[in-house]
Amino acid sequence: MIEFKNVSKVYKTGTEAVHNASFTIEKGEFAFLVGQSGSGKSTLIKLILKEEEASSGNIIINGKDITFLKPKRVPYLRRSMGVVFQDFRLLPDKTVYENVAFAMYIVKATPKHIRRQVPMVLALVGLSNKAKMYPNQLSGGEQQRVALARALVNNPSMIIADEPTRKLRSRYSMGDYAFIK
Ligand SMILES: Nc1ncnc2c1ncn2[C@@H]1O[C@H](COP(=O)(O)OP(=O)(O)O)[C@@H](O)[C@H]1O
Ligand SMILES: [Mg+2]
Repeated sequence: MIEFKNVSKVYKTGTEAVHNASFTIEKGEFAFLVGQSGSGKSTLIKLILKEEEASSGNIIINGKDITFLKPKRVPYLRRSMGVVFQDFRLLPDKTVYENVAFAMYIVKATPKHIRRQVPMVLALVGLSNKAKMYPNQLSGGEQQRVALARALVNNPSMIIADEPTRKLRSRYSMGDYAFIK
């Protein structure tokens, strides 16, 4: 569950990117956030991830008010989230397989689990034949699917994606979304 209560974000530059946002996304819901470029979509996602701090208001994730979360607890918060960033954030010196496996490695998954899980999610996003390639050898859409595979691989309780279909071969773009299992 994600709940925003009167959340605003003013950057140091004085730009108010989010103004008094209040909404709730329940378990099982598939929510889309649609808005013009610069309307604050990415900022709102960064607030959920606690990559940026809200200037005012409260953000409650899975029953916990993350406004007061200590910095050392942030990695635990992120573990419940599968995130696809707008700029993908793939590791350039790792292959497709390694990029996805690394996400499991950092949460201390067993090698056996990694060997089983990674090929499964790569198949899911249609990249089994690109496992040995490096990100710069892939198209934008393929890179985005690697990012999606990486977001899914640890079976998170919510998926947060910033412009998930921007680079995919699709007639329609979805904007940003959060999906809560
Ligand atoms: N780190 C930052 N510092 C200052 N202003 C920012 C920063 N990030 C975004 N902004 C500004 O906040 C507004 C919202 O940006 P953003 O959340 O990226 O919008 P969107 O994702 O909807 O395109 C824009 O005016 C942008 O210039
Ligand atoms: Mg954005």
